[in-house]
Amino acid sequence: MQPAARFIQISPFKQLLTHSRFMLTLRSDAGKYHSLILFRLSTAADYASFPSFENERLEKHASVGNNRQIYVMESTCPHLGADMSHADIEEYEDTGATVAVCPWHRYDFDLRTGKSETGLQTCTYTVEVKTDPADDVEKVYMETPSGGNNWRLVELRPVSEEFADPPPTSTHPVSHVNPVTVSTAETLDPVIPTENAPRTLMQWAVLILNTANPTLKVLRTRHAVHMFRTGKLDSIGHRSSSAPKPPDVPPREDSYLRNTVTPGKVKGRRSLAVMLHALANIEQWAIDLAWDIMARFGPSHPDLPPAFFSDFTKMALDESKHFSLLTSRLSATSPSTPYGTMPVHASLWESATITSHSLRSRLAIIHLVHEARGLDVNPGTIERFRRAGDKESVAALEIIHADEVTHVTSGHRWFTWMCAREGAEVDPVWAFREEVRRGWRGNVKGPFNVEAREQAGLTRDFYEALDGEMGEEEMQRRLAGFRLDDLGVKAQVEVQYEGK
Ligand code: FES
Repeated sequence: MQPAARFIQISPFKQLLTHSRFMLTLRSDAGKYHSLILFRLSTAADYASFPSFENERLEKHASVGNNRQIYVMESTCPHLGADMSHADIEEYEDTGATVAVCPWHRYDFDLRTGKSETGLQTCTYTVEVKTDPADDVEKVYMETPSGGNNWRLVELRPVSEEFADPPPTSTHPVSHVNPVTVSTAETLDPVIPTENAPRTLMQWAVLILNTANPTLKVLRTRHAVHMFRTGKLDSIGHRSSSAPKPPDVPPREDSYLRNTVTPGKVKGRRSLAVMLHALANIEQWAIDLAWDIMARFGPSHPDLPPAFFSDFTKMALDESKHFSLLTSRLSATSPSTPYGTMPVHASLWESATITSHSLRSRLAIIHLVHEARGLDVNPGTIERFRRAGDKESVAALEIIHADEVTHVTSGHRWFTWMCAREGAEVDPVWAFREEVRRGWRGNVKGPFNVEAREQAGLTRDFYEALDGEMGEEEMQRRLAGFRLDDLGVKAQVEVQYEGK
C-alpha cells in the first residue's frame, strides 16, 4: 500500500546503510526550506545478518523499519539553534528512552517524542519503511513538515567528515624553476595559533581568511568546522560588538603566485593539469568566500540564525575538500606542475568586492550567478576527463558537482530568507533579477544546466533572458581600492584546454 500523501520518499532503505546519520533538506513549492537530521541506529552488520538481505525480502525488513530504528528530527536545536548533526546518541536505562544530546549545552531530546528533560521540545517526524510495489524495493518515507505544500527532498547527505587528505604541501622540485621559499608541512604555522587562539566562529573565520598558505587554510577550516559542530567553540560570535573584521582581500603566499608554467605551452596530459590547477585556484577562493560571507555579514545581520552558519561552514568544509581533491589529482597526474606553478586569477574576489556592501547582493552574484554557472559547466569538464581516461579525476569532479548543487541550494535558501525578512511583497525572483541588473555586467550566460539549477531551487524565471547593467563607473566605485594587480594575480588567465 502506498504511504499516505503527507509522506515523502527519502531513499531506498539500503542506501541508508552506508552511514548512521544524514542531513536532509526539504523545500516546499513556495520556496520554504526545512533542514532535518536522520539517525539510523542499527549498523549495517545488523541488517546483513538478515538471511535474505541480499534478496531484499522486504516483509522481513518492514519489521526493522517498524522497530523505529530510523529517526528524523529538526537539524537545529530548539535551545539556541546548534547543529544537531554531531549530537551524541544516548540510551537511558531507567526510561528506555533514546536521546540525541545537543553538542552545545548538552540538552537531550527524545528521538521519538522530541521532548527534553529541560522542558524544551523539538519536532520529530514519523518514519515508515515500506516496499514500493512499483519496483519491489524497500524505501524509507517520512512525514512532511506542517506549513508548506509539495515538499520535496533536495538534499540527502551523509554526515561525515571524511575528507581527502590535506593538499600536498609544495615539497615539489620547484627550486630549479621557481626560486622562492616554499612552505612545507614542517614550516607551517600551527593550526591553532599559540597566542590568541580563536574562541568564536567569527574569530576562526577571520583567522582563516588571513591565512595565506592554502594547506594551512584547509587544515584550519577542518579544525574550526569540527569545533563548531561539536560544540567546542564559545559561540558563533556574530552578535558581539568585538567581532573581528575580515580582510578586504585574503592574502596569498608569494610562492603560490609566482607561476612558472605558461598554460598555452603545456601539452597532452598536462592540459588536464592546467584545468586541475585552474579549478583548484577557484576552490581556494571559494573557501575564502564561504568564510567571508559569515565574517563580513554576520555582525551586520545579528538576526541570522545558527542554520546560516551551519550551511556556510559546511560550504567552507566542502570547498576545502574540493581544493584537496584537485591538488591531489594535480600532483598525481602531473608531478612536475604542482599547485602554484601556473598562473592563477582572482576574478571571484572581484565579485566579492563588488558585493561587499550587501548580503543580498553577495548571495545573488556569488552563489546564484557564479556558483550556478559552475553547475552548467561541470558536466562538460567531467566529460573531458572521462574522455582522457582519468577515472580518479572524474570521481573527484562528480563529488564536487554534487556538493555544488547544495551550495547553490544554500544560496537560494538564504536569498529567499532575506527577501521574506524584508516583507511578504518581496518576490525572490524579482529581487534576484534586480540584484543581477545592478551588480553584474553583461548577460547571464547559458547554456544552462536546467535540471541541476532546478534541483537547487533556481527555476528558469530566475535566470533566463537576464542582463546585468552595472556600468564601468559603478563597478570601479564598488571596487574602490581593490586592484587585482596588487595581489600579483591576473584578472583572467586564458587557459587553453586541449580537445581530446
Ligand atoms: S542545548 Fe542546543 S543550543 Fe543549547
